Parts: sequence; structure tokens; C-alpha cells
Amino acid sequence: MDFASLPKVGGCGYKAPPKESGDLKQLIQNVIDAERCAIGYYNKMTEKYRDKDYVTYELFKTVLLDEVSDEDEWEDLLVQQP
Ligand SMILES: [Fe+2]
Repeated sequence: MDFASLPKVGGCGYKAPPKESGDLKQLIQNVIDAERCAIGYYNKMTEKYRDKDYVTYELFKTVLLDEVSDEDEWEDLLVQQP
């Protein structure tokens, strides 16, 4: 596997860690952006398979719900930052 190609293949690009190593807010925001990109992708996939392939639709829907939960957790963490 070519790990260097993952950002391109994944479709969400790559965000380098914040230049300031202690910039926790920016780091959390980068994670939220990645979660939102994943949500967009899985949303497209659920729409693609809705009414066509029930099992695939349910699989993508399960992953989509998981990503939305991740986003909520990171957003909660962001608002707790000083
Ligand atoms: Fe996630």
C-alpha cells in the first residue's frame, strides 16, 4: 500500500497539524473538518444506494451515523476550549 497516496484517494485531502504545537483549537477544528468531509461522502453513498441496494444502503447509513456522532463529540470538545 502506498500511504503517501491516501490523502488523494480518500477525497478529503490532508491538513497538516497546526504550526503552533499547543494550538488545540485548530487541531480540533481540523478533525471536525475531516469528520464533515466523511459525512459528505457517506451521505452521497447512502443517497446512491437508497432504493437500489438495501444492504449497502444500511451499511453506509450506519457509518454515516457514526461519523455524525464523532462530529458532535468534537464540536462539544471545541466549545469547551478556553
Ligand atoms: Fe469519524
